[in-house]
Amino acid sequence: MTKKLQPPVQQINDELFTKQGIELHIKREDLLHPTISGNKWRKLKYNIIEALEHNYGTILTFGGAYSNHIAATAAAGEQFNFKTIGIIRGDELKEGDNHTLCFAKKMGMKLVFVSRDEYNIKTEAAYLESLKRRFGKFYLVPEGGANMEGITGCVEILYDVEDKFTHICCACGTGTTLVGLIVSAKKDEQVLGFPALKGGKFLEKNIKTMVREYTGLTKNHTFQLIIDYHFGGYAKYNKELIDFIKSFKKKHKIPLDFIYTGKMLYGIHDLARKGYFPRGSRILAIHTGGLQGNNSVQELRNLE
Ligand SMILES: Cc1ncc(COP(=O)(O)O)c(C=O)c1O
Repeated sequence: MTKKLQPPVQQINDELFTKQGIELHIKREDLLHPTISGNKWRKLKYNIIEALEHNYGTILTFGGAYSNHIAATAAAGEQFNFKTIGIIRGDELKEGDNHTLCFAKKMGMKLVFVSRDEYNIKTEAAYLESLKRRFGKFYLVPEGGANMEGITGCVEILYDVEDKFTHICCACGTGTTLVGLIVSAKKDEQVLGFPALKGGKFLEKNIKTMVREYTGLTKNHTFQLIIDYHFGGYAKYNKELIDFIKSFKKKHKIPLDFIYTGKMLYGIHDLARKGYFPRGSRILAIHTGGLQGNNSVQELRNLE
């Protein structure tokens, strides 16, 4: 588990970038592990170590019906031999409803479907106590792996990147991964987050809070959220996005998911087309994995 992992950084050869004197590179975190891939492994690593060190036999976490985090936590439970419980948003759902839920179940996760109202109180102490009474002792990983252990893992994404870039780009959900990048980016590297959901202002505030909590400093680290590429919200997509993902795979042999990395790379291409990146820019985009999500879109199945 402590083995040093070094996913490759691949340069993308595309006229769009070369003509403008820009370089685009992708850090292939998606290649870290077949089922606990990308930022999922980074966010779970120190949580799993903590759970194992304190002899927790069970990890309980939260997620939506298509959550990569749920799939990865279930796979980690199977791999490292602990029980997993997934509290899933939506009491109308059933175990066999989609690929993510079927996979999590197959990995041995106990799936508990709750109403949206119940899901919304998931961080309240009284609710967590009621879960302990119901399921016994468990190690809690918050939705999306958004805790200090999660950030600690994400700080390691840039550890083995010796090259210097002008821009570090990453897709955002909770912003945990971006925080890891913000606090570990080199001097003058600009960190750009591409939210996959609406609500950039709220996310910006959360990211600033997490950075302060993690670093213990009140000083603001700089970053920018590019809020124009959520395609209508979480897991929303259109034909343009799907066509982009398919053509990117064909040209560069790199699969992207439609919820996170597809939107970020679409955004980077669009910004480049609009002249956002100055000549001489060297962009590093983090491929955060999440490819299992493509199984819920007919046209993207088997893209891997
Ligand atoms: C593939 C992928 N990329 C990016 C993200 C966003 O990560 P974060 O919640 O740390 O912002 C997620 C969700 O957690 C994800 O599954």
